[in-house]
Amino acid sequence: MTKVFAYRRCPAGTQPKHLHPAYVSSLKRAPQKPLVYLPHTLSEITGPVFSREVVDVKACDLTRQYSGAPLGERIIVSGRVVDEDARPLANTLIEIWQANAAGRYLHDADRHNAPLDPNFTGEGRTLTDSEGRYRFVTVKPGEYPWGNHYNAWRPAHIHFSVFGPAFATRLVTQMYFPGDPLLPFDPIFNCTDDEAARNRLISVFDWTTTIPSEALAYRFDIVLNGREATPVETHADGRER
Ligand SMILES: [Fe+2]
Repeated sequence: MTKVFAYRRCPAGTQPKHLHPAYVSSLKRAPQKPLVYLPHTLSEITGPVFSREVVDVKACDLTRQYSGAPLGERIIVSGRVVDEDARPLANTLIEIWQANAAGRYLHDADRHNAPLDPNFTGEGRTLTDSEGRYRFVTVKPGEYPWGNHYNAWRPAHIHFSVFGPAFATRLVTQMYFPGDPLLPFDPIFNCTDDEAARNRLISVFDWTTTIPSEALAYRFDIVLNGREATPVETHADGRER
């Protein structure tokens, strides 16, 4: 029988709560019953392998996907993807999606009264290199209103999907910008209890990767679950940690 080396579970409080009443959609989405602990099997510790041939090298530059340049402030977003033991995760697929500089998504569901940009789709993808590094060129996304409560506005953010080596390591998250005055009022940002974990969602302004006369830069490092040396035990009450 194949021995399964499971991935670590996240410490309590470091992930968004399923039920966070200030985030109104969570009232309908949150599980109504206690979670059931599922041990990792081969289905969870394996995942798709992405090769460089299937990722367009131009897809990491969202400012060059059309004949003209998109409006807005050009920025660099880069960082490293590592596991909890600080080992770089190479050839990991990273996909991003974001609003344009005016705070509008190219999506039928987005009814915000702000202009679309014919030179900006807001979608990008890339693979990490052998050191787990990635890099995007894009424009700074605009803040946008949403219907959660009266005068609700999302802070500027970029959505990230990071696959990692297995389905158990896939992470979908949002990157924020330092000093954004909307962060204290955003129920999505604030639905993670642990302050240090929450603040890891905020990118860092990074002089070293700026391009003089071209673009400012932000660093966003990502840590995915690491591998256990021994299988995770099922807890006595059957719940996840
Ligand atoms: Fe968004």
